[in-house]
Amino acid sequence: MAGERSTLKVGPLSFRSPFFLASGTWGLGDSLERYFTEEEIRTYIGAFVTKGLSLEPMEGNPPPRLAETPCGLINSIGLENPGIKVFLEKYYPLLKSYEVPIIFNLHGKTVEEFLALVQILKETDVRSIELNISCPNVAEGGIAFSQSPETVARLIRGVRESFSGLLVVKLSPIGPIMEVARICEEEGADALTIANTYPAMAILSYSPLSIIKGGLSGPAIKPLTLRLVYELSQKSKLPIIASGGILTGRDAFEYYLVGARAFQVGTANLIDPRAVIRIYNEFVELMERYERLSD
Ligand SMILES: Cc1cc2nc3c(=O)[nH]c(=O)nc-3n(C[C@H](O)[C@H](O)[C@H](O)COP(=O)(O)O)c2cc1C
Repeated sequence: MAGERSTLKVGPLSFRSPFFLASGTWGLGDSLERYFTEEEIRTYIGAFVTKGLSLEPMEGNPPPRLAETPCGLINSIGLENPGIKVFLEKYYPLLKSYEVPIIFNLHGKTVEEFLALVQILKETDVRSIELNISCPNVAEGGIAFSQSPETVARLIRGVRESFSGLLVVKLSPIGPIMEVARICEEEGADALTIANTYPAMAILSYSPLSIIKGGLSGPAIKPLTLRLVYELSQKSKLPIIASGGILTGRDAFEYYLVGARAFQVGTANLIDPRAVIRIYNEFVELMERYERLSD
């Protein structure tokens, strides 16, 4: 799986590398060429997961939007994005030219909004989507989709009815995750991304009091997500894409040992935009050592 010539299959799609760029941590993808050659993109980046896209453009939250914490990062971007139509028109053509699978990360305020996004994609050549179910469902008083297994079932059923491509569900660590994972499998999802960020808060100044509430990512969450991957991989037959604090090949390798088959690199991109190359090489080296040991 890790060798340069092998390919990884997740659902109906093949990937040249098991390392994907996580949603929201590489912007809209239009600056990839500033940091990578086209060959590097094709070799090391298994897939580009887009910034979360909505039906209408979203401005996001006012600043402060980011805060560093010990071993972590809190972000409160508020899902800022130009909207699906602008993304398809302005950003998708360049991304497509790299010949790397593009996974459209989608979020809606209601199930119907998610389904409307999928209808728009049906008219295009987009073949892979990742549903972000951590976002609030306004039809249910703003609680996250991930908190309601029935709503997740309705959502996936609706998407599956009209979309036959790769359907990944990105689970939230908050809510009845085991039950939600079971529903994803029953309703026909192809893979699970485990997991999104964890709700957190930091105090930025004491007087006047200034706080930031947002999602915690980075090394601080790796032990938490590692446990989720371990437990879910025993319960679910769906391929698992690990997302949480992957900063080194060793992090990815540990996720591999507990059942993950692909990995999303997120916060690491904000520290070093070329991190995915180093992580890939470190991982391949560890895999080779491990395979020799197993022999
Ligand atoms: C600045 C920032 C923006 C993000 N935006 C999104 C998003 O739009 N949609 C989504 O599903 N996840 C989003 N995420 C979550 C990441 O894709 C990833 O799942 C999470 O940060 C955990 O991985 P990491 O610890 O490697 O960063 C974002 C994370 C960060 C740090």
